[in-house]
Amino acid sequence: MPDSTMAEQKPLLNASVDEVETPALLVDLDTMEANIQDYVSFATENDVQLRSHIKTHKNAEIAHRQNEYSGGGGIVCQTLGEVEVMAKNGIDDIYLSYQVVGQQKLERLVWLAQKLNRFATTVDGPGNITPLQTAAADHDVTLDVILEVDVGLHRTGISLGEPAVQMAQLIQEQSNLNFCGLLAYEAHVKSKAETRAEYKEYCTEAMDRTQETVELLESEGISVKEVKVGGTATSKYSGTHPVVTEINPGMYPFMDVGELEHRPFDVGKSDCAATVVSTVISKPTADRAVVDAGSKTLSMDKPQLPVPKYRDDIEYVNASEEHGWLDISESEESVDVGDQIEFIVPHVCATINLHDTIIGVRNDRVEELWDVQARGKVK
Ligand SMILES: Cc1ncc(COP(=O)(O)O)c(C=O)c1O
Repeated sequence: MPDSTMAEQKPLLNASVDEVETPALLVDLDTMEANIQDYVSFATENDVQLRSHIKTHKNAEIAHRQNEYSGGGGIVCQTLGEVEVMAKNGIDDIYLSYQVVGQQKLERLVWLAQKLNRFATTVDGPGNITPLQTAAADHDVTLDVILEVDVGLHRTGISLGEPAVQMAQLIQEQSNLNFCGLLAYEAHVKSKAETRAEYKEYCTEAMDRTQETVELLESEGISVKEVKVGGTATSKYSGTHPVVTEINPGMYPFMDVGELEHRPFDVGKSDCAATVVSTVISKPTADRAVVDAGSKTLSMDKPQLPVPKYRDDIEYVNASEEHGWLDISESEESVDVGDQIEFIVPHVCATINLHDTIIGVRNDRVEELWDVQARGKVK
């Protein structure tokens, strides 16, 4: 066998989308750039920093591009493995929005912190504060830390109010840790709110409670330089609150079916830059066609199913690993074996992590080929 097989060859630049071997992950560059610009404009208008979460795409070139658009706001990673990939590829301002635990990981964290121009990590209790202090002291470095507070998601994060004050005091007592502020990730709003008014109401309510804690901290002489919030759906609602200094959305360049369903008033099909292009491989009956994109191509870790980007007359109804079932009983145009069908992806972060390459497309021509460099970097 030769070293490289034909399947390992990437599409040619300037090839037409019809020539791309399927299933393949596409990103429409005009749409992606417009989405990035939209959040950049929001951040500028509301005087907050846009620090993009790269867990969604795991590629340093896209991260550099986001940084250029936002005037150098830095990036956010969710794993140390992502931080390593981004650092190796020239990103030098990184916030890790995750609690790092375990000796090997702490060694890696301290090493990375020394290499980067700016780095901060996340803590929320003595179990992750004390070992971090020990690791930092062992290497004689001081680490910037953000205290995560629970504003309603009930995942990680110390409770607001007195518990948060006590934890900030514990951080301040550590000679090698520098308390920088709070992470107030408000993703609970996404499962609660149904209208624009409700997004606004619930985000404001979470930020009001965060502000009370900030005031409590400052009354104890603890300065809170930063308050970071999430996410694509909520950050434009939270980011108008005066307590917020930084927004950390991840999915916003691409969007997905989850965002479409949660916020039909903010996101339309034409805002969805990430798609999977598939081919019809079988049409066993008049009402059923099957495409070559199943659950190993389009992640269905959330309840949503793929949605055809350009056709409203067919429906993706079921998946096995390499097969996607289409209901074509209502189809107005023909669906035949060999046809290409493009789907908006159910959950973009988990879908990109299934692919080796993101194919950037403009006017139906391949313009960029990006490796998903931090794919599988879960450690
Ligand atoms: C702490 C934190 N911040 C920001 C984000 C980005 O949110 P989204 O993917 O909704 O843009 C995430 C996503 O999981 C997150 O966990």
